[in-house]
Amino acid sequence: MIKSIEWLGDRVRWLNTLKLPWAEEYVESDDPERIAVAIERMEIRGAPAIGVAAALAVALAAVKYGGTSVKELRARLRTVIERLRATRPTAVNLFWALKRVEGVVSRDYAGVDEMVREVVAEALRIYDEDVEVNRRIGEIGAKLIEDGDVILTHCNAGALATVAYGTALGVIRAAWYSGKRIRVIATETRPMLQGARLTVWELVKEGIPVKLITDNMVGYVMSRGLVSKVVVGADRIVLPGYVVNKIGTYTIAVLAARHGIPFYVAAPMSSIDFENTIESVKIEERDPDEVRTVLKSTYITLPTVEVLNPAFDITPPELVTAIITEKGVAYKPFDETLPVLR
Ligand code: MRU
Repeated sequence: MIKSIEWLGDRVRWLNTLKLPWAEEYVESDDPERIAVAIERMEIRGAPAIGVAAALAVALAAVKYGGTSVKELRARLRTVIERLRATRPTAVNLFWALKRVEGVVSRDYAGVDEMVREVVAEALRIYDEDVEVNRRIGEIGAKLIEDGDVILTHCNAGALATVAYGTALGVIRAAWYSGKRIRVIATETRPMLQGARLTVWELVKEGIPVKLITDNMVGYVMSRGLVSKVVVGADRIVLPGYVVNKIGTYTIAVLAARHGIPFYVAAPMSSIDFENTIESVKIEERDPDEVRTVLKSTYITLPTVEVLNPAFDITPPELVTAIITEKGVAYKPFDETLPVLR
């Protein structure tokens, strides 16, 4: 099983997804700041993975503290939490995981040892739950997949976006291993190419049939009847069912509706933001050079051209057939069905 992140007691180890598919480079660090940078650079990426990595970074900061003051440790951990909160703005799992750890940090403790133990335990619970939740999403979602389906997925909502197994790719894995003869179409996902680099790598490794297309081929491929279902992940779902996910998801949803293709979103309950409105969600704008170049190497345009580089888009609820969570499948109206699963 591909494990994108691991806790080694006094260090965290992760698979540097920026190096895939050319090299399987594992990075180890005992420095919470190094993990914050890894999230910013997208060595660790995908909503659930960044939440887990952030929780482990706080646990590392706790383990490394050599002092004896609960008050001092609490202040230090809060600083680390604030730093991690500033890494990426869109995926709600980051804020969800940090809020959980912060809750533990805020409790009263008899001594530093107890506090460190509790902070580490909470981070590891978040870690373990992620694996379990993805398995459940897979099991539940696989029931919606039929033998012979061709499933289009966008970006990477796989093991490389979670601790292991994945959400959208969890559904695909569970359907495949239950014996359904499915095939996958992966979109390349400009500009960071998560589909071409990561989804293809994961699926080929397990022998799940996959074909790669460029993002602008989706309409044609759908119009030729080559796609029977779409399954994607989410960075944040906001009531009444807006799905914030990798840039390009909205285009695919519009095209799926045009062609009568079911559009499924597979996401853990931790990706559902019950508190904010869609207007208040910040869509991350990344480095313009991601668009001007291919992976920051070759310029494909004039180096000075102005560009837009929103990392995510918003798919409105009317384009979403169902949301697959670890608690069950939600259908519209999502503002009634999702709170019931909570
Ligand atoms: O910018 P990224 O690569 O972190 O974006 C990832 C996505 O948009 C995924 O679809 C989403 O996080 C779900 S991952 C289970």
